[in-house]
Amino acid sequence: METIPIARPILTDEDKRSVLEVLESGQLSHGEWVERFEAAFAAYVGTPHAVATSSGTTALEAVLEALGVGPGDEVVVPAFTFAATSNAVVHRGARPLFVDVDPRTFNLDPQRVEEALRRPRVRAVVAVHLYGLPADVGALLDLTERRGVWLVEDAAQAHGAAWHGRRVGGFGAAAVFSFYPTKNMTTGEGGMVVTRDPELARRVRLLVHQGQSDPYRYELVGHNYSMTNLSAALGLSQLRSLDERNAARRRNAAFLTEGLRDLPGVEPPEEPADSYHVYHQYTVRVRAGQRQRDALQQHLAACGVQTRVYYPEPVPHTGPYRAMELDGGPWPHATQASREVLSLPVHPALREGDLVRIVDAVREFAVRAPARG
Ligand SMILES: Cc1ncc(COP(=O)(O)O)c(C=O)c1O
Repeated sequence: METIPIARPILTDEDKRSVLEVLESGQLSHGEWVERFEAAFAAYVGTPHAVATSSGTTALEAVLEALGVGPGDEVVVPAFTFAATSNAVVHRGARPLFVDVDPRTFNLDPQRVEEALRRPRVRAVVAVHLYGLPADVGALLDLTERRGVWLVEDAAQAHGAAWHGRRVGGFGAAAVFSFYPTKNMTTGEGGMVVTRDPELARRVRLLVHQGQSDPYRYELVGHNYSMTNLSAALGLSQLRSLDERNAARRRNAAFLTEGLRDLPGVEPPEEPADSYHVYHQYTVRVRAGQRQRDALQQHLAACGVQTRVYYPEPVPHTGPYRAMELDGGPWPHATQASREVLSLPVHPALREGDLVRIVDAVREFAVRAPARG
């Protein structure tokens, strides 16, 4: 029996030809393909500026540095996310202020953000659009504007997701994307910063390219966070298929939800009416808790369905963050989510037979589950 993987990047002949074109040009690092990818991605999101980077993490670090976040500052981040979000804050010498999430969407709870914003040292809020579902952008914009702090969107998992018909990435002062191979589109490793602010874009670009405005003309002490032409060529080609692949993810998600909606104890993800979810992950909740969730995961593995727990602990509960003795918490919804979530395959390479196998395997478990105690 073939195992259905949790993620599988789709690489077409066109992708391969694009990368080959760069190899044949001999211009492997900076240049034309990076510029074209930046322009195409900015146009896709609907922001005037985009700067390509080596990863989503370096994109986030460059944005925070360009905004002037540093020692003595606090940055609001969700307690339930991938650690890259808060790691970037720590690498700026600032302190992450972890805030609990809304149990329905797994995204930042605006009410908790409002409380966090009473603290005087908060300079920015990083809102993650987790699993491909937009955070409550309207409420977060309102709160951050009133308080005069930056809103940064971590859209690493949300290429093409939209809120009230507008694509994520254009709401905050800046947004970052990741092109890691499991993401909705890939460049191998890679990232992108988008912004409407020309001065912020200029500073990010300087930071990404060793502080140079022209070769060897240094305006600040920068980094090498740049994307290669090889990655950019792949990104350009992948971007052309993004909408179609997001549509396939949504069809797969609808199929799974239809098959699972009446099950006791397994809750499919929700899509609020104002949101366009791009299902980077299709994440169910197993209400009976961690033992049952882990048992479902084992059952699915035995049925040849690979699943993952994104994420098994709230970030502030992990070793390095505990050691920092940060303020904030407890994070009851993040803690509960980490015990109950399970992501099922939803990627666009799935065939209908795969989806049927996934639904059947979950149903088989859920129907037997009450007897397990
Ligand atoms: C929410 C979130 N933020 C940031 C990142 C970092 O992106 P990258 O892996 O490209 O550095 C990721 C990637 O996995 C992510 O999921």
